[in-house]
Amino acid sequence: MPHAEITTLATLREAEAGCTRCPLYRNATQVVPGEGPSRAKVMFVGEQPGNDEDLAGKPFVGPAGRVLDRAIAEAGLDRTTIFVTNAVKHFKFEPRGKRRLHKKPNTYEIDRCRWWLEHERAIVKPELIVALGATAARSLFERPVVIARVRGNVVEREDGTRLLVTIHPSYLLRIVDARDKAAEYRRFVSDLKICAETLANAA
Ligand code: URA
Repeated sequence: MPHAEITTLATLREAEAGCTRCPLYRNATQVVPGEGPSRAKVMFVGEQPGNDEDLAGKPFVGPAGRVLDRAIAEAGLDRTTIFVTNAVKHFKFEPRGKRRLHKKPNTYEIDRCRWWLEHERAIVKPELIVALGATAARSLFERPVVIARVRGNVVEREDGTRLLVTIHPSYLLRIVDARDKAAEYRRFVSDLKICAETLANAA
């Protein structure tokens, strides 16, 4: 149940800045709130901020964000109209020398951070939510989800929320073989085209 005093993105940001709901706030530089129009028709949910996002305080501004931006544009969508956020709002990492290596959030952290995602959903009220990867899908479905089984299909939950699951763009960055990479990128763009078509049909 969302907090009664958090009714705007501004009040939400303020509340998120003081988040201590799980231990991740201790080592991160700052919380990374969702970003985009408060009346966006579509919300994209990633996993958690990466190194660049942690430093900038903004979601998807690093390498995965650049892949996402390119795919969004190729799918005929406009990022400035999308509310972009993450399932987990603080960067989880392991120090390795001078570098900070990304560590996957665990179920406890995802569950504790759903509180913020629920506020974002209650304020923005998107027609469609796109889950980018397994962590986002885990948060939105409240259970583990096998991406390969559900990707590319718009599913409606009991509360009427429409969800579309696809891969996380950082998966594309990890593919070494150029042909595989290109094929997977095209599949990602196709999934985002389904998002564009769903929004166009709802208009
Ligand atoms: N990966 C994510 O899941 N979110 C970001 O904001 C950046 C990278």
